[in-house]
Order: sequence, then C-alpha cells, then structure tokens
Amino acid sequence: MIAIRGATTVEKDCEQQIKYAVGEMMTQIRDKNGLDADKIVCTMFTITSDLKSCNPAKAAREAGFYSSALFCSQEPEILGALQKCIRVMVLAESDKKPVHVYLNGATVLRKDISSIINVAIDGPAGSGKSTVAKMIAKKLDILYLDTGAMYRACALKCKMSGVSVENEPEIKKIIDKIDIKVEYRGGAQSTMLDGEDVSELIRSPEISMLASTVSAYPFVREKMVSLQRQIAKAHSCVLDGRDIGTNVLPDCKFKFFVTASPEVRADRRYKELVIKGFKTSLDDVLKDIVARDNQDETRKSAPLKRAKDAVFVDTSKMTPDEVADLILKSIQEKI
Ligand code: DC
Repeated sequence: MIAIRGATTVEKDCEQQIKYAVGEMMTQIRDKNGLDADKIVCTMFTITSDLKSCNPAKAAREAGFYSSALFCSQEPEILGALQKCIRVMVLAESDKKPVHVYLNGATVLRKDISSIINVAIDGPAGSGKSTVAKMIAKKLDILYLDTGAMYRACALKCKMSGVSVENEPEIKKIIDKIDIKVEYRGGAQSTMLDGEDVSELIRSPEISMLASTVSAYPFVREKMVSLQRQIAKAHSCVLDGRDIGTNVLPDCKFKFFVTASPEVRADRRYKELVIKGFKTSLDDVLKDIVARDNQDETRKSAPLKRAKDAVFVDTSKMTPDEVADLILKSIQEKI
C-alpha cells in the first residue's frame, strides 16, 4: 500500500474551476503512479474554507474516480496556510515509490504545519548554484543564504586593512574582531561588514580569488560556519557554498551538488562580469576559475567536494529553470 499526496489551487471559488482542478490532479496522480482505478483504495480530500461551491469528492466522482471510497473534510483556518487550496491523500495498492503531484502553485512546503527545512546546494564557481538557489528559495518562499558572500566579506576586510592574505597571524587578528552579519531586505540578502552593506563591493574578480585564499584558514571557516549554522537553525533557507552538505549541515535532508565544465562556467561568469562593467577577458576568467577550483578543492579544511548523499547535477547543457525544476522535484519526492 502506498500513500500519494497531491495539492492544487484555484483562482476563484467556482464550481467549474474546482471540478477541473480536481480532475487534473487525480488524473495526474493515477497516470504518474501507473495506477488502475481499481487499485485506488481510498481518496481523502481537504479543502480550504474559502472554497464552498463544490465538494472535491463529488468532482472526483464526476471525473471518473468512483470505484474507491471518497472523503472530504475542511482544512482548519490557520494563518499562513495556502488559500483556495484542495489537498488529497490517495491510498493505493502498489509497491512502487509514490509520485506526489503539486499543481497550480501548491507546494509541498506547508508553512502552517512544516518545521524548518534547509536545502544545501554546493558546487564550484559558475556552476549556476546561486541563480538556482535563489529560484528555489523564491518558489518555496524561504530565505536564500549565499555563504560565499561571507568569505568574500572577510577577504574585503583583509584587503581594506592592507594585510596580505598570506600573512596568517595578522589575518587571524582581523578575523577575531570582524563583524559580519547577514540581513534581508525585500527577501534579498545584504552582506554587512562592520555595519556597512558590502554586497556590491565583494563581487570583483580580485575579491573572488582573495576569498578563496582566506577561506582556507580553519579559523576563518570556524567563525563563518558557526554563523551559517545559527541562521540555518533559526530559518528555513537554501544555502549555497562549497561545504554545506559535507561540513556545515551534514545531516541536511536535501543536498545537491551542481557543476558544469570549466569552459561553460567561465563563459557564464565572464558574461556576468561584463554586464557589471568589469574589464576582463574570457581567457582570464577561465584561468581564475581553474585556479580557484584547485585552491577550493585541495585545501585541508572542508574542501569543495560532493557529499556522498548529494544529488549530482551537471548543469552544462541545462537552463536555470530546468535545474530548479529538477531540484524542486527531488525535494518534493523526499519531503
Ligand atoms: O561562491 P563564491 O564564488 O561567492 O565563493 C567565494 C569563495 O569563498 C570560494 O572560492 C571559496 C569560498 N567558499 C567556501 O570556502 N565555502 C563556502 N561555503 C562558500 C564559499
């Protein structure tokens, strides 16, 4: 026996819309799970109190799902719950893994009943992880935490202090006193260094390389990882970085490792830098990316590597939408 979940929403409390939405959801549940109608044992719906014009059990019957027991109850009115929503649990005779169906903006993540969830997305520079992490955070309506920005802020502080990143004792003194905070404005992350928003200043190619170097010091990592864990413990968020799945949140349930060929990654980063007005060449960007990969992968303290239980995604030939869909589907299957 398996339990298959589904949810859908409608725009208006209208009989036709509810009938169509229920028919669509039930048909997808049946087809995606390869079920014959007589294998469905029972179907239980809930409906939000803002929908009154049609009982989903009746809509399911009319859509041809009449051979099983059908039941519907009203969802409690809880602040933050999705509006105009119909949810279903289908019990069916099958030994396959259930494929859950979420349509029309209904998501698996129910703010009204879910606890904190963290999604770890690791990968090298230019793999597309930050673009995709932002898309997923938006879709799930949770925070996005760019952990690379914290190491970049450390690098900026060292640069502003005029201390070489190779000078470990002096860097240690700076990091002991550094004040890095992450704030959110309109859902977007602002990285604060000693009370100033440095979100733009940390994006230069020079800071990219310096961040890779300072991030190798264990005392830098210790401080940043502690901050990252605090944020992840207090908020549902998508974290992107190099060591989230292996070191920051090793018990995280949703782990992904995204990568692409160095040429594709350099091309993406080059285009981004040109748009931001940096003068550089594709060749230089490729050289930087290869040097940074090498430094991030070979450092002793929490190097860049795929966690054994992370889903591997090669984004070389994929659009950001395709990568985000794949990750969201994987989260949905595991939740
Ligand atoms: O993701 P990014 O390019 O902004 O990261 C800048 C550098 O910071 C990267 O080269 C290595 C380091 N980093 C890290 O060591 N661990 C993380 N979780 C994130 C970034």
